[in-house]
Amino acid sequence: MTLRFQWKVLAFLGAAMLAPLFSAAQAVPSRAPMCSACHGPNGNSQLKDVPSLAGQPKIFIENQLVLIREGMRDIAQMKGMLDNVPDSELTALAVYYASLPIAKPTAKRQAGLFARGETLSQEMRCGICHLPTYVGREQMPRLAGQREDYLLYTMRAMKANQAVGRDSIMIASLYGISDEDLQAISHYLSRLAN
Ligand code: HEC
Ligand code: HEC
Repeated sequence: MTLRFQWKVLAFLGAAMLAPLFSAAQAVPSRAPMCSACHGPNGNSQLKDVPSLAGQPKIFIENQLVLIREGMRDIAQMKGMLDNVPDSELTALAVYYASLPIAKPTAKRQAGLFARGETLSQEMRCGICHLPTYVGREQMPRLAGQREDYLLYTMRAMKANQAVGRDSIMIASLYGISDEDLQAISHYLSRLAN
């Protein structure tokens, strides 16, 4: 057995023994408490215009964290917070928040507004990317159960072309929509318990 081969075997055994320590489901990344100060306990936001992270697709969170760190998605409240944070830590944060369940919506449905939001979302084919249940996938965020004020705030920003660093096809899909329709869609999506 060559020396190099022995090292490979040792490295493999070492990784195999350490793996369970890192894959434990309850592992909370060290930075998470700081994030939860704004994004809420267990990633369910209780602050106006701040998105919940719980139940978002891992890839979506990971992508956004890289964009925020690189200053490409400009978020005043998070400025400098991710400076020099390595990719591995961003991934750990993404895995953690993606694994947490989103809270069941408690706000009342207004039948007319809800139905209008449902029809609009279907007609505008939002489900093609965000999935028909609006739970999101890969780089497409979950919309179901997201805060109503955040959905409205962020779609208004996209429509006004003030959402720096956001997906251009996404922005284009809101082209020409009225503010009343944005309100109906936000009402509808925020009350979905998928
Ligand atoms: C001081 C408050 C604050 C703190 C602390 C904070 N964030 Fe944020 N975060 C925000 C706000 C506000 C937004 C949305 C702003 C916008 O879109 O204009 C946001 C957006 C995000 C987004 C994009 C989510 C989406 O649905 O578009 C991710 C991911 C995120 N934050 C992760 C984190 C992580 C991880 C941490 C901890 C390292 C963190 N945030 C700390 C306020 C905060
Ligand atoms: C072509 C695929 C596609 C279509 C169609 C689409 N979206 Fe998106 N959407 C995305 C992607 C990708 C993102 C995330 C990237 C970004 O912009 O930051 C996103 C982001 C969003 C966000 C921001 C959520 C957050 O947590 O920050 C909202 C709200 C949203 N979409 C609503 C809609 C609505 C409503 C429709 C239908 C009118 C729609 N989308 C149609 C791809 C799409």
